[in-house]
Amino acid sequence: MTLKPSPRIADFVDEQRLWRRHMDMAAIGAIGTDGVNRQALSREDIAARCMLIEWAHRRGYRVETDSIANLFVVRPGRNNTLSAVATGSHIDSQPSGGRFDGIYGVLAGFEALECLDDAGVETDRPIAVVAWTNEEGSRFAPSTMGSSVFAGARQLDDFLNVTDSGGAPLHAALATTLDSMAVDATYTVAPPLKAYIEAHIEQGPVLEARGIDIGVVTGIQGVRWFEIEITGRSAHAGTTPKANRSDAMAAAIDAINRVRLAIEDGDERTRFTIGRMEVVPNSPNTIAEIVRFTIDLRHPDAVELETYANAIRSICDAGAGPCGISCRELLSQPPCSFPELMVDTVESAATSLSLSTIRLPSGAMHDALFLASICPTSMIFVPCRNGVSHNPAEFAEPSHLANGARVLVETLVKLANNEQ
Ligand code: GLV
Ligand code: MN
Ligand code: MN
Repeated sequence: MTLKPSPRIADFVDEQRLWRRHMDMAAIGAIGTDGVNRQALSREDIAARCMLIEWAHRRGYRVETDSIANLFVVRPGRNNTLSAVATGSHIDSQPSGGRFDGIYGVLAGFEALECLDDAGVETDRPIAVVAWTNEEGSRFAPSTMGSSVFAGARQLDDFLNVTDSGGAPLHAALATTLDSMAVDATYTVAPPLKAYIEAHIEQGPVLEARGIDIGVVTGIQGVRWFEIEITGRSAHAGTTPKANRSDAMAAAIDAINRVRLAIEDGDERTRFTIGRMEVVPNSPNTIAEIVRFTIDLRHPDAVELETYANAIRSICDAGAGPCGISCRELLSQPPCSFPELMVDTVESAATSLSLSTIRLPSGAMHDALFLASICPTSMIFVPCRNGVSHNPAEFAEPSHLANGARVLVETLVKLANNEQ
């Protein structure tokens, strides 16, 4: 007689349920057939939060929020005086985003909680699934507001008067969100945490190209955001002679070219993006009075990142001909490495499930970057099609999403039972 092996906890991960939840979330803020526009603290973000809260209440989990509307779904442990193990990611999306960036980490975490219920497993420590507020920073800059405030790296007050492109202040959007969620604001999930693990689609091409199931993330490259504002004088495009022009657009193009030259690297490890540009008055036949643009600069090496950031500052300090120029730094986060023990824990959970793994750093920013400053942290990546992200075409296979959730639940149980 052959004995049937007893089921593993990860066997209770329900691929179809996890996929359905993604599609339910994708219906909120849907654009076109596949895209999502669910920017931070918008009506769509609130609707998605409320749906998660309803699912959580149906399962009997505790739901909490904090002053910046981070949303916590907590499955109690045997000893709730012990610090929680947390997982999660973000519900907000880019304006032209996909169905998986961020929301996957929240739903994989929720699937892990449901899986533990279905398997009848208790853990020593509570496990919290967190939806961090405004990870993307596309509506209210900078990004990762919720996790940076939670980790104590930034203060809520730093952000309250930030406005979106329509002039709406963050404090008003935050108040509406907190009111609409109507959940307990006396939160119990607070630093110190025992550990944090975030699941995410890779957002790059490596796992798919190499046919690997799970990316075990070793750290996150550093990022700096700048907002450059160039001020000239608006005047008639056809009648104003060269000597009389204070052309903010000409000065902006010149500054951008100088920056691009200064950050040219041989090994192409630097990432440099100007993703937003505003022109005032933005008329074809008027010389631009103001050009405002953002720089997103990333590098895995802290020293090189600093060198390139200094180059941007020096170029601004050198002036912009007849125009004024100012440079405001919106975000400065050095690269981080996740602790070896956490990386090992994720890797061995994947290996125990016979999933193939590679170790890789994250090119994208994640809430895990801030969590890493307050507790042992790591991340789990799953493949996404063609490495495409921040695009409606973003796609991840249901089976790959489920694999990541399996690794996540096994890792969470180990951490919540102090087995590593
Ligand atoms: C988040 O999506 C980031 O990497 O900026
Ligand atoms: Mn993300
Ligand atoms: Mn993103």
